[in-house]
Amino acid sequence: MKKAYVIAPSILSADFIRLGEQIAEAESAGADWLHVDVMDGHFVPNLTMGPFIVEACRRATKLPLDVHLMIEAPERLLEAFAKAGASSLIVHVETCPDISGTLKTIKSLGCKAGVTLNPATPAIGIEPALNLADQVLVMTVHPGYSGQEFMPEMLSKVVEIRRRLDEIRSPAWLEVDGGITTATISQVREAGAEAFVAASAIFHHPEGIAAGVRSLREHLQ
Ligand code: DX5
Ligand code: ZN
Repeated sequence: MKKAYVIAPSILSADFIRLGEQIAEAESAGADWLHVDVMDGHFVPNLTMGPFIVEACRRATKLPLDVHLMIEAPERLLEAFAKAGASSLIVHVETCPDISGTLKTIKSLGCKAGVTLNPATPAIGIEPALNLADQVLVMTVHPGYSGQEFMPEMLSKVVEIRRRLDEIRSPAWLEVDGGITTATISQVREAGAEAFVAASAIFHHPEGIAAGVRSLREHLQ
């Protein structure tokens, strides 16, 4: 059965010297998915991790690995990420001239297929992907870095996509990513989101990772 809400810690703010321990702490505190932010230094200015880290995460946890591909021409690497153990592969519509074809390829590799869009891309941009997507991720910051401020103007986009998913009776998860904290999580939940990615609010929580996961969950009650 589909859980009511999903909390997906993003390891972008983890301490990579202690990545395994930190993932275990998030998992035992009740995290639902683990979010992996892949950046190529082209689609976004930052450069982060690839299939090698996904494979290491796969050995560190049983949680689904939610892999967010902020890379140009993601088709080149879908198979490598699937083989590394990704559970879902989320591609940016801005990088996929044939978004339906890319989502079908992801499914053929045995992964859940996700689509996401930058703050500057209107909701209509993902319309052709809605009936195929298992996940729709609304970026609530400009992709590239953790620790940015939530963009409140994205709330109306969450509402609009929630309405479209409901109209077509899509079971897709509506996910949000960027600036999700105890101060913003209930606003995006009210707008219709069900899955919440957070890096800093969890891995930089002053009382530790478990407190970070639990405090976000408490704000969803
Ligand atoms: C941003 C990434 C996010 C990021 C979120 O480009 O896609 O997943 O890690 O970081 P916070 O939660 O700190 O805004
Ligand atoms: Zn992300």
